[in-house]
Amino acid sequence: MTAHDAPLSSFPNSRPRRLRSTAAMRELVAETRLTANDVIAPLFVREGISEPQPIPSLPGVVQHTRQSLRAEVRHLASLGVRSVILFGVPAAKDDIGSGAWDPDGIVQVALRDLREDVGDDIVLMADCCLDEYTSHGHCGVVRSDGHVDNDATIELYARAAVAQANAGAHVVAPSGMMDGQVAAIRSALDASGCSETAILAYSAKYASALYGPFRDAVDVRIAGGGDRKGYQQDWRNAREALVEVAADLAQGADMVMVKPAVTYLDVIAAVRAACNVPVAAYHVSGEYSMIKAAASNGWIDGDAVALEQLTAIKRAGADLILTYFARDLAERWS
Ligand code: PBG
Repeated sequence: MTAHDAPLSSFPNSRPRRLRSTAAMRELVAETRLTANDVIAPLFVREGISEPQPIPSLPGVVQHTRQSLRAEVRHLASLGVRSVILFGVPAAKDDIGSGAWDPDGIVQVALRDLREDVGDDIVLMADCCLDEYTSHGHCGVVRSDGHVDNDATIELYARAAVAQANAGAHVVAPSGMMDGQVAAIRSALDASGCSETAILAYSAKYASALYGPFRDAVDVRIAGGGDRKGYQQDWRNAREALVEVAADLAQGADMVMVKPAVTYLDVIAAVRAACNVPVAAYHVSGEYSMIKAAASNGWIDGDAVALEQLTAIKRAGADLILTYFARDLAERWS
């Protein structure tokens, strides 16, 4: 038994409350500090609109126009936020999601705008997936039997990643949970002169019920009331996350992600212990909306709960947190 395991009664002089006595003392001994450097702001940009559109299920978040996105990113950069991740809402969708790799697709034009405005001052990330662009709402090519075709899909992810990199993304973030997606993207980027572009892999992404408001934000409804259980992870599995992470690292992922966050703190801690690359966690739309909804009813203090949850995600081992609270927090801290 070490001294720390001994019963408190054998250390009558131990008084942990001494270190909680004043705000300054608590600041001094805090083990975890969340700052603007830790957060990545997810942003939506929609093609063909002239005014930003509010998203009712994500209060305070909008679908941006190209112009309002530019202003938002400049504002975030001025507040010290280091990174944003873009999601596109195209004017038209098709079977294979071709807007994802069209050089004039909404995310590609937005990346060019932002690179012009903020250059390398902020890390520009692009979510690399097809669901925002497909008419059926799946993250890949749907075969006639209704299944998502893995290998046909990763070829399209590779095209999307190259289009994003060419448009100015510093980081591409494949979120579709197809096997081999990181390798396909890495080799396509390298073959296209984009060897500097990094990959943040959504490695442990669960088939969560917490993505609902996000799907409102990107106008996605999965055809026939379908779901993503055939490609995203089963939320009963934790060890499997380490298999996914190992596979992504072997394929060349530079950073890995766990998603959602608060319901998966055990997974974040396990991934942190298993690898030495930066670990990101996504505090997803449902996690954000639950706090907003309860706060608007006066049931909880939303700002306090947000800070508590996001700090817990960092305490569990995440280095980077994707959160819709990024701007709120950065404004509070500035
Ligand atoms: C897929 C993608 C999703 C989210 C991020 N990337 C939706 C999904 O998997 O259905 C969800 C993010 C959130 O809920 O905030 N491109």
